[in-house]
Amino acid sequence: MAKEINTIGVLTSGGDAPGMNAAIRAVVRESIAKGKKVKGIKRGYAGLLQEEIIDMEAKDVSDIIQRGGTILQTARCMEFTTAEGQQKGAEICKKHGIDGVIVIGGDGSFKGAQKLAALGINTIGLPGTIDLDIACTEYTIGFDTAVNTAMEAIDKVRDTSTSHERCSIIEVMGRGAGYIALWCGIANGAEDILLPEKYDYDEQKLVNHIIENRKRGKQHHIIINAEGIGHSSSMAKRIEAATGVETRATILGHMQRGGSPTCKDRVYASTMGALAVDLLCEGKSNRVVGYRHGDFVDFDIDEALSMEKGIAEYQYEISKNLSI
Ligand code: ADP
Ligand code: F6P
Repeated sequence: MAKEINTIGVLTSGGDAPGMNAAIRAVVRESIAKGKKVKGIKRGYAGLLQEEIIDMEAKDVSDIIQRGGTILQTARCMEFTTAEGQQKGAEICKKHGIDGVIVIGGDGSFKGAQKLAALGINTIGLPGTIDLDIACTEYTIGFDTAVNTAMEAIDKVRDTSTSHERCSIIEVMGRGAGYIALWCGIANGAEDILLPEKYDYDEQKLVNHIIENRKRGKQHHIIINAEGIGHSSSMAKRIEAATGVETRATILGHMQRGGSPTCKDRVYASTMGALAVDLLCEGKSNRVVGYRHGDFVDFDIDEALSMEKGIAEYQYEISKNLSI
């Protein structure tokens, strides 16, 4: 018989992402609507191990749907990657009467949820990361906002780049995943896109491309460089020396992680938050919510973690033709 869930815990873990607050709000309100109690666990697994656990009522999540960041705050926690840390976490959940935990984070956070589930605490993961690097889902909470923030910033850099007839290297977030770079590359009409999944970039090719474009009358040359490739400032110096074209590097950094979530992030995060509660109430555990082929769905966490996601090859290929 499925375990009855009376009290639901919610935490955010790993890098924050705009829309996490919308998800927390949905978890709290859907739980209360279903007659459950809700506890907020602060600072991810670190807060769980420190017993930073608060009761949450519907009013505690008012006026947050439009805010970036996470009201529960987030952290990375080494102790929770150990068997002792996980055991302690499960015991603390039991001590506080928490029968189910909703974990909002990325793949690393899901591994923590998987461990808690194995120790008898029902868990559901929600994909929260600006990187879009979770294989089981076509959507992750925060990507839409982050990519729009980056796109707007890049438009501004492009204005000044064109005025000065410069080359601009703009570094966007994504240490292991190039989705933000690829989407901005297409949305901002970049001449070159450098992705960690394609670590085949050849600086001489970039130099030749800039020189050819200059001959054809292009007044700017935008290179979107993913954080995983990095070294934008030194690359700018070498490119300027080799091409004679003034080159500047701009690193967008953590501004991409903040700000008010877009409508899509608010609506999808809200839907996913409510669905996570409904799954727990049905007695499900060790599941992760995703969005695929137009539907909100759920997968076994073990299965979700074994899936792999590459870069969208077709979009990468056409991006080159679209900027000729
Ligand atoms: P993300 O969730 O965004 O992928 P991290 O990889 O930094 O971010 O993971 C967030 C947290 O999840 C870690 O600090 C740790 O507490 C927990 N975690 C990561 N990997 C594991 C693991 N193998 N077992 C248990 N907990 C883990
Ligand atoms: O996973 C989200 C992300 O912003 C990545 O794009 C980036 O590589 C990383 O987090 C940066 O993490 P930190 O907050 O530790 O600088």
